[in-house]
Amino acid sequence: MKIFVTGVTGQLGHDVVHELVKRGHTAIGSGGRSGDDMKVFVTGVGGQLGHDCVNELMIRGHEAVGSDIQPSYAGVNDGTAVVTVPYVQLDITDKEAVKETIEDLKPDVIIHCAAWTAVDAAEDEENRAKVDAINHLGTRYIAEATKAVDAKMVYISTDYVFDGQGERPWQPDDKNYAPLNVYGLSKLDGELAVSSTLDKYFIVRIAWVFGLNGKNFIKTMINVGKTHDTVRVVNDQIGTPTYTYDLARLLVDMVETDKYGYYHATNSESTPGEYISWADLAEEAYRAAGMDVKVLRVTTAEYGLSKVARPFNSRLDKSKLVENNFRPLPDWKDAVSRYLKEAKL
Ligand SMILES: NC(=O)c1ccc[n+]([C@@H]2O[C@H](COP(=O)([O-])OP(=O)(O)OC[C@H]3O[C@@H](n4cnc5c(N)ncnc54)[C@H](O)[C@@H]3O)[C@@H](O)[C@H]2O)c1
Repeated sequence: MKIFVTGVTGQLGHDVVHELVKRGHTAIGSGGRSGDDMKVFVTGVGGQLGHDCVNELMIRGHEAVGSDIQPSYAGVNDGTAVVTVPYVQLDITDKEAVKETIEDLKPDVIIHCAAWTAVDAAEDEENRAKVDAINHLGTRYIAEATKAVDAKMVYISTDYVFDGQGERPWQPDDKNYAPLNVYGLSKLDGELAVSSTLDKYFIVRIAWVFGLNGKNFIKTMINVGKTHDTVRVVNDQIGTPTYTYDLARLLVDMVETDKYGYYHATNSESTPGEYISWADLAEEAYRAAGMDVKVLRVTTAEYGLSKVARPFNSRLDKSKLVENNFRPLPDWKDAVSRYLKEAKL
């Protein structure tokens, strides 16, 4: 069926369009937005966030072109718009290909979600040049091409650009960068490439990502819980998680404005300032999934040696979103329970 839905910037209208598309109907959304529809190029659509960004753009009536390194869309085949929208194969480390692709498409906006995200493997000597090529140089090529077509760019980054010390929540405009590991350094270099090349950019730092399309901590916990009645999880790394479905809404809200700059965006604390540990996240996932699994809370030191240093303090202060009239992401517990249903975990 072809269905016209009003009020798609509200929660209900938005979720109705999402559901209709998943069920194979043609949904035409309207309402709330000022300005013209935009053409948006999204990298990393084979991953968690890129997948949800394309779907969000389509719900909101924009034109999306997806891209990743695979010959064709290789993410989950869930019947949503991302499976069928135009797709361009692009290796972002190929400078000429990035330039040609973006100059041919002439998008109004580029949402850059592609990245090397394997934090442990990034430390291996044989991977270091590749990590830099993707997260730093690839991002630079995209920023340069964005400038050539006078578009807006969104770059997704991480609290790993900071050193993870202390308990003070990191502010979006903090400049005391000190990444602890190779991945963090490469993401910082990506940020600096964007901010030194462009004026029209959004650098959005997120943490502890979970989404439908890819691997993440919650999926791992649910799978481990099927065969174990106790799991050990660290309780001294503190932050808040980010549901890509919720983040995608915010990113589209952002690109419909010109409120450029640095932002922090994760799901909200249940009580302001009440950040959580990975152990809290695991416990909530088991509770919401109705699984009887005990979480043994351990320190990072007790958990055992890891080849990569991770930040203890991943607290991201998100108040700049509200100050700029953006809708913050919903409460993290609400996000976990919606995610478990959506992902059928
Ligand atoms: N996953 C997390 O916990 C986390 C935390 C903080 C920030 N981030 C950032 O959020 C963004 C999205 O993360 P995600 O979890 O959706 O990532 P993901 O790993 O699910 O997807 C990344 C995508 O990038 C693509 N890619 C890798 N190399 C490429 C290349 N050379 N050319 C083109 N595409 C390439 C991959 O094929 C993959 O589909 C990334 O910038 C990441 O650094 C992630």
